[in-house]
Amino acid sequence: MERTLFIIKPDGVERKVVGEVIRRIEKEGFQILQMKMLRMTKQEAERLYAIHRDKEFYSSLIEFILSGSVVLLLLERQEAISKLRELAGKTNPAEAGKGTIRGDFGTTIQNNIVHASDSIETAEREITIFFP
Ligand code: CMP
Repeated sequence: MERTLFIIKPDGVERKVVGEVIRRIEKEGFQILQMKMLRMTKQEAERLYAIHRDKEFYSSLIEFILSGSVVLLLLERQEAISKLRELAGKTNPAEAGKGTIRGDFGTTIQNNIVHASDSIETAEREITIFFP
């Protein structure tokens, strides 16, 4: 069994697709171990996106993730990390396939509805930020 962190971003909450996104992950066999809705603190956002600190889109990304409430889920499944990233689709909604969460609901590369941890190490680090 593997655990991963899943975030429905402010655009997902704003566009009222929280229920549909959670329905999709439950249908794919993910167990929700913990879940909460909150506005991230600046410190949490900066910890989450620390690896993007030097990118040109960093300040805009931080502003976006702080712009509204997010839904945080601690999920468990076999091969959870790769399966969740498959369900989420590519980072850029324009490149994400139809039937993926980002392909169906994302609008821009930044406003791409969801975040899913990309490796075991990243998942452990990200889970610690929100579910210590
Ligand atoms: P996420 O999976 O949360 O990981 C980093 C986030 O940065 C990504 O989703 C997007 O929201 C954002 N992002 C990635 N690349 C770009 C880009 N080129 N321009 C703006 N935002 C980006």
